[in-house]
Amino acid sequence: MSALTFEALRRLADGRFHSGEDIARSLHRSRATLCEALKGAPGLGVELFSVPGKGYRLSAPIEFLDAPAISAKLAACDARLKLEILDEVDSTSTRLLELAAQGAPTGTCLAAEWQRTGRGRRGRSWISSLGGSLTFSLLWRFERGAGHLGGLSLAVGEAIARALAQCGAARAQVKWPNDVVCDFRKLAGILVETSGEMQGPSVAVVGVGVNYRLDERTLDRIDQAVTDVVKCASVPPTRSDLLAAMLASLAGALDAFDREGFAASREAWRALHAYQGRAVRVLPAREAAFEAQVVDVAPDGALVVATPDGRTVSLASAEITLRAR
Ligand code: BTN
Repeated sequence: MSALTFEALRRLADGRFHSGEDIARSLHRSRATLCEALKGAPGLGVELFSVPGKGYRLSAPIEFLDAPAISAKLAACDARLKLEILDEVDSTSTRLLELAAQGAPTGTCLAAEWQRTGRGRRGRSWISSLGGSLTFSLLWRFERGAGHLGGLSLAVGEAIARALAQCGAARAQVKWPNDVVCDFRKLAGILVETSGEMQGPSVAVVGVGVNYRLDERTLDRIDQAVTDVVKCASVPPTRSDLLAAMLASLAGALDAFDREGFAASREAWRALHAYQGRAVRVLPAREAAFEAQVVDVAPDGALVVATPDGRTVSLASAEITLRAR
């Protein structure tokens, strides 16, 4: 997609009619060039109307991220947090992994208005929409070794759920291992990728995707129970405020994790676990599914469940789904 397509969409972001002539003039381009650039809108999932005599209008307003406002908030809370907002990228995490390999420091953060090929856990794709999601990744370097990062993705989930709750989505909870849910529907997904020496130092790229306002077309492409911030929050925060709050929350949680590991957030995580004590179906990656009841989360982040025959099983990785009572 051309940078001009995004610039033109920014001129149209309020959802009102704007004449092609005005937009073209403000971009110092010809109307023909503008018309060509706007042909890219459907490829971004954006519906655009063109009415003779009135101009162009989006089917719904788009709230683009406000880079200066977010950066000002971040500077006030943690000088290490340096945010770059890209119009589009294949995946913020893939890009940030490349920057990590080139030595980018702790606190480097990439957000994208549009991810072409967002990556989810277990090789899935992460579906998002322009203005309807938040997609970002944060790089963090740890003193502790790669062998001591157990529970990191849970700590991240707790920090994200807490930020969402502070921003109005009071019912935001976590779901083991690292989903954020509201009323048992997925609100945000987390992908943590780590590397480094077993004894330290180590590095993590924390990728977060938040459903902010999912439209029907995006919902049709998602094959699991999801919800969004606009539905869950009493007064929805702006995307920019929410992004700043999540980064601030993450910075605190990641520092605490480097000092104390998962112990720093285990209690808070437990209190936020939507599946605590629940009857669940466990889907291990390679073994047969089984039924169990959630008992606890272990110090290393493993989920402790009780099986119907009285065994206690510690799960390092699996998926869980709610079982009808
Ligand atoms: C999941 O499957 O639940 C994890 C989803 C993680 C998606 C985020 S969006 C920002 C970052 N970039 C990616 O490609 N993935 C993560």
